[in-house]
Amino acid sequence: MAKLGYVFDAYGTLFDVHAAMRKLGDEIGPEHAAISVTWRNKQLEYSWVRSLMGSYKEFWQLTGEALTYALKHHGREDEALHAKLMELYWTLDAYDDVVPTLKHLREEGYRIAILSNGSPDMLTAATDHSGIAPLVDDIFSVDAVKTFKTSPDVYRMVTDAWACKAKKIGFVSSNRWDIAATTKFEFKTVWLNRSGATDEYESYPPSKVITSLDEL
Ligand code: LAC
Repeated sequence: MAKLGYVFDAYGTLFDVHAAMRKLGDEIGPEHAAISVTWRNKQLEYSWVRSLMGSYKEFWQLTGEALTYALKHHGREDEALHAKLMELYWTLDAYDDVVPTLKHLREEGYRIAILSNGSPDMLTAATDHSGIAPLVDDIFSVDAVKTFKTSPDVYRMVTDAWACKAKKIGFVSSNRWDIAATTKFEFKTVWLNRSGATDEYESYPPSKVITSLDEL
């Protein structure tokens, strides 16, 4: 077997980051999709800026700060709404293709892990809620190294723990920037382009591009 195992990004790859806002779509109105995009973009921006500043804070806190910004930016400041959305984000739904794919890969003998910016308790809650916890061998949170993706320190957690070379690992992410960094790290990368996003980071192309996990 060429690969030892598969490592999955969490948010956007296994868990639908827009599910929380969508669940309150009727209450929020048609702007909910745009607010959700602002929320996600700010959450990521805060992770990169804090990593560069050397000022790590847990992803849960950045997620809350990003939501505060998004609601304010769209003129929807509301503490009760903020609290409801955060509660929904804690237990995001997994995409439909996740459970069958993880089951299949395990049957094939691969080790399965999650590697995420998410704080450990966020990842435990999301994997328990979505029923994928029994299908995952390891959950690696950036909290152990106190910096976010795309620091190589984050990706090295997996090669250290599994005591293997990066090229023995298949890494799957819907985030093209995460794929660029892991291609540089020499994982065998699979870009899960669920949304038909435009390709970028030409110098660091994925080994494979798929639109659904069923194609893995
Ligand atoms: C993660 C972010 C990138 O799960 O979505 O690491």
